[in-house]
Amino acid sequence: MIEIGGNGRLWLLSGRRSSYALHLTDEDALLHLHWGPRLTVPDAEALAAEPLPAERGFESPLDGREEYPVEGGPRFVRPALSVRAAGVRGTEWRFQESAVSGDELRLRFHDPLHHLDITLHYRMRDDGDVIERWTTLTHTGTPDDAPLELLRADSAAWSLPAGERHRLSHLYGRWAAESRLARTDLTPGEKVIGSRRGHTSHQHLPWIAIDDGTATEESGEVHSCALAWSGSWRIAVQRLADGTVQTVGGAGHDEAGLLLLAPGESFTTPVFAGLWTQRGFGAASRGWHAWQLAHVIPGAHQERPVLYNSWEATEFEVSEEQQRSLARLAAGLGVELFVVDDGWFGSRTSDRAGLGDWTPNPDRFPQGLKPLADEVHGLGMRFGIWVEPEMVNADSDLYRAHPDWVQHHPGRTRTEFRNQLVLNLARPDVRAYLWERLDTLLSSAPIDYVKWDFNRSFTDPGWPGDPYPQRLGIEHVRGLYDLLGRLRAAHPGVAFESCSGGGGRIDLGILGLTDQVWTSDNTDPLDRLAIQHGFSQLHPARVMAAWVTDSPNVMGNQRTSGLGFRFVSAMAGVLGIGGDLTKWSEAELTEARDWVALYKRIRPVVQHGEQYRLRPPGGGGLSAVQYVRGEETVVLAWLHAQSYGEPQPPLRLRGLDPDSAYEDLATGTVHRGAVLSHHGLRTGLRGDLDAAVFHLRRTEQVG
Ligand code: GLA
Repeated sequence: MIEIGGNGRLWLLSGRRSSYALHLTDEDALLHLHWGPRLTVPDAEALAAEPLPAERGFESPLDGREEYPVEGGPRFVRPALSVRAAGVRGTEWRFQESAVSGDELRLRFHDPLHHLDITLHYRMRDDGDVIERWTTLTHTGTPDDAPLELLRADSAAWSLPAGERHRLSHLYGRWAAESRLARTDLTPGEKVIGSRRGHTSHQHLPWIAIDDGTATEESGEVHSCALAWSGSWRIAVQRLADGTVQTVGGAGHDEAGLLLLAPGESFTTPVFAGLWTQRGFGAASRGWHAWQLAHVIPGAHQERPVLYNSWEATEFEVSEEQQRSLARLAAGLGVELFVVDDGWFGSRTSDRAGLGDWTPNPDRFPQGLKPLADEVHGLGMRFGIWVEPEMVNADSDLYRAHPDWVQHHPGRTRTEFRNQLVLNLARPDVRAYLWERLDTLLSSAPIDYVKWDFNRSFTDPGWPGDPYPQRLGIEHVRGLYDLLGRLRAAHPGVAFESCSGGGGRIDLGILGLTDQVWTSDNTDPLDRLAIQHGFSQLHPARVMAAWVTDSPNVMGNQRTSGLGFRFVSAMAGVLGIGGDLTKWSEAELTEARDWVALYKRIRPVVQHGEQYRLRPPGGGGLSAVQYVRGEETVVLAWLHAQSYGEPQPPLRLRGLDPDSAYEDLATGTVHRGAVLSHHGLRTGLRGDLDAAVFHLRRTEQVG
């Protein structure tokens, strides 16, 4: 809902439980007023009437209060916008008009010297508390005017009122150890997270949360924001001298220049979304999850199938017969989607060759993929394949034909990682090639699923011959989005997974075009709990692919763990199996079948329920996650290690009706809702690496 006050110069956006307010001063400064509990227009008008802090030497009253701090004039904060034209930097803008259409507010400003229109967009939907913000920049000049260089064009700035203490939560990591949660106090100055790698990165996810140091999982005020962009990015959080905090974020990692806008051209930034709650980090996550399920992830109401992926079992030693054997074993377990990973195409018998040549390897699949796909379908499963379209090996037909299609600087080394180079998707000819190859591939066999990988970062993002080669950073991502969008439209039955050596490209941008993500190449079930804990801060279980692999964990830390622990860990998201089933014993296959059957029973609750993190992993003890959907609730609990004599704490469940009874569907035990909520569920876990699933259903009112 959008309300207007203050003689048409104040806007109040309200969602389910929160409001966001801003106003224009008489001098056309656009100031932030409120981001918190719901307000009325008179409340916001009263706020707007409060005087700005008194002028203090060497400080600007605007700093920390502007909705979109531009470069230049009376400001010293990090600008959201930095524009250069004909040697002149900075922006002086005047308000032009506001417009409301549905739940979107648009505020248009104009800089006459630069012929630049700046439109700030806000959208807050009635069904939640996420505010989507983005900015459109348009060169309104005539063909004779100089182009505008967007040195920096952030999506939005978020302002928090002065406080004695601000604590920042963010997600960091590395390959095979993504999305670790860090929580640290902000001191005066700037904290910058981001990626200069050309993709979202394993190192940081574009999400932050800020509280006053007292919020817990279930209580306290939390402001958080997340950027919907899959290329290089930056979020800068600044705590100013007066205790206010301002956060700017957007595409690109520095101010070296994103794009040139010719007269008539526009750039629309990615969305930088924000969410406020006063019910703790858990409610913040549930708010983000609900918004993604309702408005970001395509077809999110559908359940994701249990998949089998052959990568850890076979690596590059792929053959049709071996895939058929694995498929038969997988089908016997109740798997619903069978995915052939790397090694099926071109001359791809190792990571040294073949990327770029997207036709089946004639020795391995002499009749193409269709016979295998048909067999997989005959076994009652869907069929999927792995691709890595943005990459090329130097040893490939594609590179031999088009060495100029890769990102490179003239006269400089073409850096290889994993023996591969990055194609320049900003080039229309590269996109046309990939579109033709992938469209043909998806038409050549009944393929239902594509794991879209991206296994190295940008290192030499040059584009010889282009007048403004650094636009590649933005245009590569736009090219990727365009390609994915076209493929989805042409093949609506195909689901896509975003992978980048595990979790190197997970963000709200790619999730608008994919059905799930590969969370991490680390499939160790214990390591995975920490990764999943961080992941759940922003993203829902419905997109979090997790596989059960072999023990010891051959591709990772070699840890030995029981099949039950491995399954319960992977059941916290979209369950998959990635072990070498030909080596599993009959007993293991039977046990696995039971776990898959149990997962299918709890799947609607896990994938679409509200998630409560009951106890975080780490510390060596008990951790647990609960999901609630309608009458049903599921608890997954893991015990890392038990010290002798140390009791396991009961798990106090959330989101239950204290006046109802809940039946454990496995044992028939009936629990009272009040007891589960206030005293807890005893897990009975013991020893090392133990785990359990509790599936409860509300049965009756208790007297
Ligand atoms: C990446 C992925 C893996 C696998 C390999 C194949 O590392 O994350 O799951 O697909 O590539 O080369």
